[in-house]
Amino acid sequence: MVKLIPKSPVFQMDCKQFVEHHLKDNSVDLVYADILFDNPDLTWLDLIKPKMKLDGVVYIHTDQRSVLYVLNTAEQFGYQHQSWIIWGYNWGGRPRNKWPAKHEDILFFSVGNTWQWNPKAIGIPKATMIRSTKDWQVPTDVWTDIGIVHTMSREKDEGEHRVWQKPVKLLERILKAHWRKNILVVDPFCGTGTTLVVAKQLGCQYAGCDIDSEAVRITRKRLS
Ligand SMILES: C[S@@+](CC[C@H](N)C(=O)[O-])C[C@H]1O[C@@H](n2cnc3c(N)ncnc32)[C@H](O)[C@@H]1O
Repeated sequence: MVKLIPKSPVFQMDCKQFVEHHLKDNSVDLVYADILFDNPDLTWLDLIKPKMKLDGVVYIHTDQRSVLYVLNTAEQFGYQHQSWIIWGYNWGGRPRNKWPAKHEDILFFSVGNTWQWNPKAIGIPKATMIRSTKDWQVPTDVWTDIGIVHTMSREKDEGEHRVWQKPVKLLERILKAHWRKNILVVDPFCGTGTTLVVAKQLGCQYAGCDIDSEAVRITRKRLS
């Protein structure tokens, strides 16, 4: 039985259950899924496909351990790969004998051939000596201007210092790029709830879940 989503819910459950039982067909505009795992189970990605609008988009945040697996599997499920974003930062420890790994990978897929795209909303100042009528440009697929959530920040306090909390600025860039009135934003691995917090701030509809009760408690607190 499919239960229609009540107003802006956050569920504590496995993502597959959430996708199957709490999302309507053809209703989701944007998915952001942050799965920093070694061997991710991507069954949910197949299950969510019929729930997506034809012009919907999916962002999967992962890292070098599973990025190629995610890319190949998503394409097998019929998603169209559009961008491979590198989120770079300069923080944390450094190994003595190899290059410090200071980036994570965010894969952007579309469901169909068209999607909402708002270049001006994500524009950054244009660094050029050449005279131009446009003083802004769209960021490239290498994002080093966002940074991490700093340990002493208020944002980190809100997320109760969970290691994997993502910055509001990162989700703002993604959501603003695809924003339009009344879009439904879904995060099936919501963690501290950053995606849903930003969706709420931007006036979107939103829904999410996490298997961990503490994560759900923190998300609900941030949204209250
Ligand atoms: C990397 S964190 C997400 C962090 C989040 N983006 C944030 O900004 O806080 C991944 C989350 O997925 C959750 N998770 C792991 N397996 C899950 C599953 N099968 N269903 C739902 N959530 C799951 C974990 O409890 C964890 O909170």
